[in-house]
Amino acid sequence: MQTILVTGGAGFIGANFILQARKAQWANVINLDKLTYASNLQTLAELQSDPSYHFIQSDIGNVELVS
Ligand SMILES: NC(=O)c1ccc[n+]([C@@H]2O[C@H](COP(=O)([O-])OP(=O)(O)OC[C@H]3O[C@@H](n4cnc5c(N)ncnc54)[C@H](O)[C@@H]3O)[C@@H](O)[C@H]2O)c1
Repeated sequence: MQTILVTGGAGFIGANFILQARKAQWANVINLDKLTYASNLQTLAELQSDPSYHFIQSDIGNVELVS
């Protein structure tokens, strides 16, 4: 299965996209989010025990990490 990188995945659109990807099992997901005021990790709580979902708190401007 492919692995996708989702940036801003703790926001409204990203979180729902990730839930859809994992529920339909069409991708493993790495979620990179800075966790600003707009974030809500509760939306993704059901994925806490999903081994195919990984969360990283960082800024997309972190070139070293993103590459
Ligand atoms: N209940 C609702 O209907 C509802 C709720 C929220 C938003 N919205 C709508 O959804 C749209 C916005 O959704 P969205 O998902 O694009 O944005 P968002 O603001 O919901 O989420 C953006 C995410 O990107 C992250 N982010 C921002 N800068 C970052 C950076 N430099 N590095 C890493 N992560 C970063 C934030 O922490 C946040 O989690 C708007 O149209 C808004 O009105 C609707």
